[in-house]
Amino acid sequence: MDVARIREDFPILYRTTAGRPLIYLDSAATSQKPRSVLEAEEHYYEQTNANVHRGVYALSVEATDAYEAARARVARFLHAPDPAGVVFVRGTTEAINLVATSLGRKLLHRGDRVVSTVMEHHSNIVPWHMLREYSGIDLEFVGVEDDGRLRTEDYDRWLDAKTKVVTLTHVSNVLGTVNPVREIADRAHAAGALVVLDAAQSAPHLPLDVTRLGVDFLAFSGHKTLGPMGIGVLWGRADLLDSMPPSMGGGEMIRDVHLDRISYRESPAKFEAGTPNVGGAIALGAALDYLEGIGWEELGDHETRLQRRAFALAEERFGEHLRIFGPTRPEDRQAVLSFSLDGAHPHDVASLLDSRGVCVRAGHHCAQPLMERFRVPALTRASPYLYNTEEEIVQLFDGLEEVSSVLSGIRRPPAASCPDAELERTRLLRM
Ligand SMILES: Cc1ncc(COP(=O)(O)O)c(C=O)c1O
Repeated sequence: MDVARIREDFPILYRTTAGRPLIYLDSAATSQKPRSVLEAEEHYYEQTNANVHRGVYALSVEATDAYEAARARVARFLHAPDPAGVVFVRGTTEAINLVATSLGRKLLHRGDRVVSTVMEHHSNIVPWHMLREYSGIDLEFVGVEDDGRLRTEDYDRWLDAKTKVVTLTHVSNVLGTVNPVREIADRAHAAGALVVLDAAQSAPHLPLDVTRLGVDFLAFSGHKTLGPMGIGVLWGRADLLDSMPPSMGGGEMIRDVHLDRISYRESPAKFEAGTPNVGGAIALGAALDYLEGIGWEELGDHETRLQRRAFALAEERFGEHLRIFGPTRPEDRQAVLSFSLDGAHPHDVASLLDSRGVCVRAGHHCAQPLMERFRVPALTRASPYLYNTEEEIVQLFDGLEEVSSVLSGIRRPPAASCPDAELERTRLLRM
């Protein structure tokens, strides 16, 4: 993979931050966008903008055709049998909320059980908690092993006739763990449960095939997959979408509205109330073209190489003082490197790295139950992607060495010349 060539497609990588070249290592939060995606959205607004599914005039028909072509493009990306199974939403969060709300209105009842996992992003926990609060469903969680793998034997405990939904992430946004989705889906189906897959962190890195994965619903976000913000996808099995009520009401999703009754259109229209993000959908199509143009194998090899380098540098420079959470073999995981550095708070680490132009994320990563599981308040996360180089990984670790020495200086007992260690720490953090 020619990374230097790829970088030329991402204009933002040419800017500086804190007076240094930008080293963007936060792609699990949002990826950067190639020029073809920026141009696709711009072209839509410059040349095609009109509301879709409404006008009889040529421009609106053109916009509608482009929007529906984007839906077909997403269906190809997911190897979905029918574009009608693709619902455009804002992102993974909205997609999972849609499923939870809709199932909660008709198919899930008090006492039914939903099984999630401890490694989920909040967007795959909170909507189900809300259903627990408001509809009385039971909510249970499959645990996580010390090495970051899902404790799949926990499913033995929960997979019975009471469990109606099994929901899980494909790839952990903290641990990089890749879950054995097909195996879990088969077990869930044998127990009569539906399977919801959060593919927010897999769609950017792995080829997806909804039939092979054996899931009933799949959600992903455009903005993590080289596309724009505000567009994402819920894919659902056609028969299920047809039997589910809409979660949101308004224009476009109805067949008839009277003062005493309403009827809905078929899916996916039924789930797309109001004016959709047409430009975003079209640009997402361009993003998927770009991503698939790279080649999954090449991308995977590149990311494994970056991870290997990171693991080697961590060992070489910090030994046991730096702990990377999740599976220990780069081949067994995706490139999400969450770590703790002895004696350094993740926010301090991220702030100091920022002053070197290195963008990493610090915090609970919207996975508080997982932080509790590992008894850490927060972690620092570096998440490289196709445009990152091995040299940038080296610079990350150069930065971490500096962070480590700055912070160990701060931790020294206050000397006479430095009466207030906390003030000194604050000053250093602002440098
Ligand atoms: C695994 C996972 N699920 C869901 C989400 C939520 O995605 P969005 O904020 O795009 O809705 C994220 C975002 O970080 C994620 O990493």
